[in-house]
Amino acid sequence: MTVQTLDHRTSTALFDITPLQPSLGALITGIDLAQPLDRPTYDALRAALLKYRVIFFRDQHLTREQHIALGAAFGDLEEHPVFSLPDYPQILPLISDELKERLPGGYRRTSDGNWHADTTFRAEPSAASILLQRVSPSLGGDTVFANAVAAYDTLDEETKARIDGLTAIHDTRTFLQFLDTEEKRDALQKAFPPVEHPVVRIHPETGEKVLYVNSVFTRRIVGLPEAESDALLALLFNQVKRPEFQVRWSWRPGSIAFWDNRATQHYAVPDYSEARHMERVTIVGDRPVGPGGA
Ligand code: OGA
Ligand code: MN
Repeated sequence: MTVQTLDHRTSTALFDITPLQPSLGALITGIDLAQPLDRPTYDALRAALLKYRVIFFRDQHLTREQHIALGAAFGDLEEHPVFSLPDYPQILPLISDELKERLPGGYRRTSDGNWHADTTFRAEPSAASILLQRVSPSLGGDTVFANAVAAYDTLDEETKARIDGLTAIHDTRTFLQFLDTEEKRDALQKAFPPVEHPVVRIHPETGEKVLYVNSVFTRRIVGLPEAESDALLALLFNQVKRPEFQVRWSWRPGSIAFWDNRATQHYAVPDYSEARHMERVTIVGDRPVGPGGA
């Protein structure tokens, strides 16, 4: 097995990039994300995002308006159908139980402790997310990111051949527990009926093959008996759990993670008991395409 090793530290005239792990992740310093991005900086950030898959920043104490402006520089922004701040529909709050009463509207439990890519219940799942920490627990609450291209690459040839043409069903079931009436649950399921995505996705910008099933939103492989689908999904969900495909990020207030949601999965480590408050803006993506073109 070969794990691609990324170049060591590079400097551009615009900012410094320090890779954090061989497989993915880089820390970017010497940049102020509160300022509008000029074209060369924007291009260099996009290139870094595609190359390192998740890029991290420290001490970016953005206002909500600045956070939204940063995201909007990279594309249209999503509004989450279940979780969004009343006055800022493009901001998805993730709020620990300790803070919930002060900051209603957030959630914590669905994806904590579960590997996933975001919003694959959408026909056009998010391209990227920019997550900012506002309040840190004194210890714990890291996020782990995994390289889903490496997760695919290192499958054995037989499994690759088996999954290359398959599709899977993704849905919003995980959110139903957060809706308090049947009416709301029905409305969500009508607005977002189950969708079928390729199990192996061709990354629309890099052309790489990506393992595109995740344990939060993917239910079933199409055309396989249930037991076989469950067994294959379990094997594929496990593939992102290998530490050699991962980078682990410890947050502080003002820290940002900006990930390519088409090429990674992530895992919120639920090991803290104090307040933790995150805010995310999410960039609209396109319809996933498999190796056969559909
Ligand atoms: C997310 C997410 C992880 C975290 O923002 O999509 O899963 O650690 N967050 O809060
Ligand atoms: Mn997530």
